Amino acid sequence: MSIENLSIYYGEKCVVQHVDLSLKKGEILTVVGESGSGKSTLLSAISGLLNSTATIETGTIYLEETPLHENKTMYRVNRKDMTMIFQNPGAFFNPMKKIGKQYEQYLCLHGVIDKQEQKHIQKMMLEKVHLCDVDRVLNAYPFELSGGMQQRVSIAMATTFKPKLLLADEPTSALDVTTQADIVKHFIQLSKEETAILMVTHNMSVASYLSDKIAVMKDGRIIEYGNRDDIIYRPKEAYTKALIEATPSLSEVENG
Ligand SMILES: Nc1ncnc2c1ncn2[C@@H]1O[C@H](COP(=O)(O)OP(=O)(O)O)[C@@H](O)[C@H]1O
Ligand SMILES: [Mg+2]
Repeated sequence: MSIENLSIYYGEKCVVQHVDLSLKKGEILTVVGESGSGKSTLLSAISGLLNSTATIETGTIYLEETPLHENKTMYRVNRKDMTMIFQNPGAFFNPMKKIGKQYEQYLCLHGVIDKQEQKHIQKMMLEKVHLCDVDRVLNAYPFELSGGMQQRVSIAMATTFKPKLLLADEPTSALDVTTQADIVKHFIQLSKEETAILMVTHNMSVASYLSDKIAVMKDGRIIEYGNRDDIIYRPKEAYTKALIEATPSLSEVENG
């Protein structure tokens, strides 16, 4: 994926300013920055879920060589190729339908109609995200599962078809540490299977652990962008240094 000179406005207010980013097959790029810096807006623009009051003022987003939009109009993207995970997994599910039913519908939508094959895929994917009691999970309504379990299911679904690009907006911030760690490991595994991952987080330790590249965003701009080691060990911007210093485990690493 590549983004060239992307600027997005809400009314008169510019919330994403002249952003350039690129991501290769199997790479993990993390966008870090404080709340309100424009991270979610950037991700929504890529996923095509931009709020209708937002305008893409300049720039283009490409998936492979294909532009994803022309000005405000999004082109249809194969939803197998690009999937999204939300901070609040509740946003991903219909509260009225059992998890298994929703997963089945998702598989049907993408051409898997054989019941036995559906069952096989569901079981395999749920085990990949360390959900063991598969039948219970599939038979549950979303509210019957914890946030961590819901997020695991949403990740299983979103990665069923090995997307080319996975977008994840603070996917671990509402979760307990064990679930966080499992999800991070799952992402690393996916990237080895060639999925490119663009993740937004305000957790510098998560970013440091899994990223190939890190982009630091502030007030709508990418103020620093580079390889993980350069950003973590040799940050140039005072703002980046402050983010790292505010993360105890990282500042210890940096100070030897
Ligand atoms: N629907 C909206 N209408 C108007 N302003 C918005 C809307 N959504 C977000 N904003 C503003 O855009 C800026 C960036 O928000 P956001 O992309 O959510 O940042 P982040 O994800 O980094 O916290 C903020 O100043 C926020 O108030
Ligand atoms: Mg956000």
